[in-house]
Amino acid sequence: MKASSQSLFSETDGSSTIIHADALAGMKSLNDGSVNSIITSPPYWGLRAYTNGDTLEIGIEPKLNAYIDNITSIFHEARRILADDGVLWLNIGDGFTSGGRKTRIPDNIASKNSARGKAYNRPDTPEGLKKKDMLGVPWRVALALQADGWYLRADVIWHKPNQMPTGNIYDRPQVDYEHVFMLTKSLKYKYNIEEGYERSATGVGYRQGRSIWDIPTESKKTGHPAVMPVALADKCIRLTTNEGDTVFDPFTGSGTTGIAALNLGRNFIGTELSGDFVSIACNRIHDETGVDSTIEEINSDNELVIK
Ligand SMILES: C[S@@+](CC[C@H](N)C(=O)[O-])C[C@H]1O[C@@H](n2cnc3c(N)ncnc32)[C@H](O)[C@@H]1O
Repeated sequence: MKASSQSLFSETDGSSTIIHADALAGMKSLNDGSVNSIITSPPYWGLRAYTNGDTLEIGIEPKLNAYIDNITSIFHEARRILADDGVLWLNIGDGFTSGGRKTRIPDNIASKNSARGKAYNRPDTPEGLKKKDMLGVPWRVALALQADGWYLRADVIWHKPNQMPTGNIYDRPQVDYEHVFMLTKSLKYKYNIEEGYERSATGVGYRQGRSIWDIPTESKKTGHPAVMPVALADKCIRLTTNEGDTVFDPFTGSGTTGIAALNLGRNFIGTELSGDFVSIACNRIHDETGVDSTIEEINSDNELVIK
């Protein structure tokens, strides 16, 4: 794994590899303990379709329990490839039951006539929930991962100061946050406490980092509908990795985690199901870090090969 060009922006020579594959299959090709930290945002349940109906896509399961089972299996494998002192930062947002509506409005990237646009069916209300109930997906996932063996160490609230209100909602507060769960493989792990220091509330001196992070959303036109702010990945990477470490993202999307990692002198490995998003991530990583990614895929013999 060697970047074919040196990063223009980071001091060290980080490498970037994107595996065009389902996250679970891609991780099977990686060695035990081979990544130092995982920073990721999986598809949220029932929110949008990212592919043209790929059956391995996460988030489109008709049943909430199936989504939680799939996510748990993926992060079970992620724990195997994570170093014993590694940390997983898992960004996940919530949603509401459909209230009886059957379809969604396609986003501005998947037109309503495309296969992706047509895949916008809302799942039925999960058993035990009612119309308009908040789903509680982030905590259901966090508790499932804890039961699977992860140490649940923090529930960071990512507060979005510039969040636009959702239309036609007059009977509850607008939601302007998501969760970023911090999960570890072991009791002891790498944590660079000094990277979290922030100005104290009085403005005099510094204090240990807190668990509500104010980070504006970014509205870059990347061609991907759900881009995480680079600043969010940057903060996680600083807290739990050092220069030269390897950061992994099973749901690479437009490559945000890779950009933050490479610009901090770390290496990046990611998996991504959609070929379109692999291309978008490679181009974006090149534009924002100067690093050319190696694209790999899994051949019919289940071997990882350069694409
Ligand atoms: C919320 S987006 C990630 C966005 C990313 N953090 C960014 O900033 O661009 C989730 C991504 O997971 C991908 N995905 C869905 N199912 C997958 C699977 N089984 N394996 C790998 N990637 C998958 C989708 O194509 C989508 O790009």
